[in-house]
This record gives sequence, structure tokens and C-alpha cells, in this order.
Amino acid sequence: MDSIIVRGGAELRGQIPIAGAKNACLALMPATLLSEEPLTLTNAPRLSDIRTMTQLLESLGAEISSMQGGKVIAMSTHDLASTRADYEIVRKMRASNLVLGPLLARAHEAVVSLPGGCAIGARPMDIHIEALTALGAEIELKDGYLHALARGGLRGNRVKLRFASVGATENVLMAATLAKGTTLIENAAREPEIVDLARCLRAMGAQISGEGSATIEVQGVDRLGAATHRVVTDRIELGTYMLAPAFTGGEVECLGGEIGLIGAFCEKLDAAGIDVTETEAGLKVKLRGDRPRAVDVTTEPFPGFPTDLQAQMMAMLCTATGTSRLEEKIFENRFMHAPELMRMGARIEVQGGHATVTGVDRLKGAQVMATDLRASVSLILAGLAAEGETVVNRVYHLDRGYEHVEDKLSAVGARIERVSA
Ligand code: EPZ
Repeated sequence: MDSIIVRGGAELRGQIPIAGAKNACLALMPATLLSEEPLTLTNAPRLSDIRTMTQLLESLGAEISSMQGGKVIAMSTHDLASTRADYEIVRKMRASNLVLGPLLARAHEAVVSLPGGCAIGARPMDIHIEALTALGAEIELKDGYLHALARGGLRGNRVKLRFASVGATENVLMAATLAKGTTLIENAAREPEIVDLARCLRAMGAQISGEGSATIEVQGVDRLGAATHRVVTDRIELGTYMLAPAFTGGEVECLGGEIGLIGAFCEKLDAAGIDVTETEAGLKVKLRGDRPRAVDVTTEPFPGFPTDLQAQMMAMLCTATGTSRLEEKIFENRFMHAPELMRMGARIEVQGGHATVTGVDRLKGAQVMATDLRASVSLILAGLAAEGETVVNRVYHLDRGYEHVEDKLSAVGARIERVSA
């Protein structure tokens, strides 16, 4: 297993290109199942999760070729070969559950393994099940698999999500495009990845309005056609690299960054004493003074502060002046980076979904372990600020969601390298 070694103290200066959004691409790819015509995605990120989704879709009958080093993904599912998503793939990547809605819409049946829990929480699928049942699907759980059937096809209906689940919104949105009649999705998730998926489906011929608001309306159509769609910029990779100068000083320009993708996050950066300037090419970021200021953070569904940036923010607050309070309201167990940061000298107290961080002058490099995708990158950021050397182990988590993180950071002056065990 690879590790990443970071030697702290180097100031960062330069430009970091931001890739296409992992969490948009993982929802856009299953859309190929909805149509017999080709679907081509551009600006796709080069990540292991994308390769996992490719394997799953190929097992279902999709023909997929990737070009330009993986930035272009050409897919075509003329005929389905299977409607079963096996546990082996789904347990590795929860987003595999996003084939459920498209398979039900196209083939009126699906057998999809429940993903099982992961490091950050139990992550059930009750909201997905309730929403698809409202469209006429019969779904029962047998030996860890959801067995779903839509006799005579799905029918449009009013669907109210008890929580604005991103994945459930994506599953029911894709399913509704081929349902008979109109579907109204209430309390829908509003994330930019939902908006991106709706734009792609519309390019394929779907009739959708209201995406980005809490109510999305879909008029079912008989079939969807071909489309080419550019994957939206990754707002979580963007936010991650915007934080980097707060650890090291200096100034970084994140290419492709847009304020609209991370409004609430930018407000917190400003409160912490970090300047963000919009440029022709993206967002330029630098720290006012020599240390960030403490701020309080509560994670919420978009447009609130993103849970996927909580770990990175906590790492930055470890050396802020003052005490910060963080509340994680989306996942039940998303502070696993805290004990690792404490190994580096951070002062953090965790009580359930609340964490209190008391800023210290300097972190110290240490051997630390990545536990999930966003926790792993928060440890790398902490290593940039720490005295001495930090070794982050189990970086396979990192490769799921960050393209060549050591290349992007060393290009702006970080002393970082990957070593294979
Ligand atoms: C998506 O996961 C993202 N993944 C996650 O990013 C992100 O953290 C999450 O949305 C929240 O923004 C992808 O897009 C591939 P949810 P998803 O359904 O769709 C509970 C990363 O690091 N819930 O909005 O699974 C659930 O347990 C990943 O890139 C139910 O109870 O998130 C969680 O506590 C991590 N029942 C909360 O809702 C359900 O049926 C939010 O889940 C579904 C969800």
C-alpha cells in the first residue's frame, strides 16, 4: 500500500488545476443505462472510483471507452446484459447504488446489493426505496440485495424525501425521466451535482425543471437520446486546495474554481481570515496575516457548509488563533481524522457530532492513517503546516477522490512524495 510523505513548512505559490467533480461523474455515468444512444462525458476526473463505476456499468452491458487519459468517457448501452449490481462492487463504492433508478426505468427490474456501512456511517437506503416505491416499484430486501420490480414500468408521482439525500434525489430523478406521467420531487437535494445531472439528462431529451431548488418536476418521456456533457468542476477538490495557503502561507490560484459552487464555504474562509479573489482563470486564495482565525462550522445540505469539507476545515482550525466548534449533522461518524490530527499535537475534543478545536502554535509531523477519503486529504494538509515529516498511510482512500494530489501540491512548492510500500 502506498504512503505519502509530507515535509512541512514550504510556502505554496502557483496554480492548481481543479478536475471534474467525482460526485457528479459517479451520478452521470449510470445515465448511460437510460438510453440506447451514446453518452459522452468530457472533463471527467481520473480516479479509481471512476474505474470502479466503469467496471460495474460494463458488467451491466455498457460499452465504455475512455480517451485523453481518462478525461473523456464515451459510453453506449445499446443492450443490457444484466440488471444485477453485485455486493463485491457495491461494498467498495456506495455510489454503485445509483444504477438502481436507471435499471428500473430502462428494464423495469434491478437487483442491487445494499452497500453496507462504511467508515463514516451506516448509510442506509430507506429514502431511495421510499422514493422509487412511490413511482410504482416493488422493492424487497433479500439476502442483502434489493430486489426491485416495476411491473408495466414506472409511473410519475409526487415524491417527498424525508431528508434531502443526494443519492436518493439522483436515483429518483433518473428513474422519473422514463416514468409515465409527471413526477414532483419535494425536499430534493440542491447540490451542484444534482444540477449537473439534470442538465445532462435534459441534453439526452429528458423534460426536467426546478433542479437546484427543493422541488424538481419531471415529465416522463418514452425514450432518451444521445448527448455529450461536460462534468461540472469538483467543488470539494476546489475547497480542499483553497485551504492549502492557510496552512503554509503564500498564494494559490485554483483554476476553474467558481464561487457559486462553494458559497457557504467561502463565507467561512473570509471569517477565518482567508482572502478569496475571483480571477479570469478561477479563484486566487491567500491568508491575511500569519495564522487563520477560529470559526464555528455546522455541516448542512447544499447550500450550507459541505460535510465533505469538514475534515479539511478542522485540520486548518488546529493552528488557528482561538477555539472553534464544529458540528457534523450529515453523517454520524465523520470525525475519525480527529485522533490522527491529535497525534500531530492538535487539541480536539469530540462529543458525538460535536468537536471543539483549540488552536495550537504548530503541529508536529507524525505517522498517521487515512480512514476515509476526506480525512486522508485533511492529514496531508496538516502535514504541509507541521514541523518535520508526516507520513500518511493507506492513501488508497485518497486516490478514490483526488487526482495525483502529490503532483498538484508539489507543483506549487509543497515538499511531498508518494512511496510505494
Ligand atoms: C453523497 O453521498 C456524496 N457521494 C458524499 O460524498 C456526500 O458526503 C453526501 O452526498 C452528502 O453530501 C456521492 O455523491 C457519490 P446522502 P450520499 O444520501 O448520496 C443518510 C465523498 O467524500 N441517508 O445525501 O450517500 C445518510 O446515511 C462522499 O465524496 C439515509 O438515512 O449522501 C447520511 O447520513 C462521502 N437514508 C445522510 O443521509 C438514505 O436512503 C446524507 O446521505 C440515504 C441517505
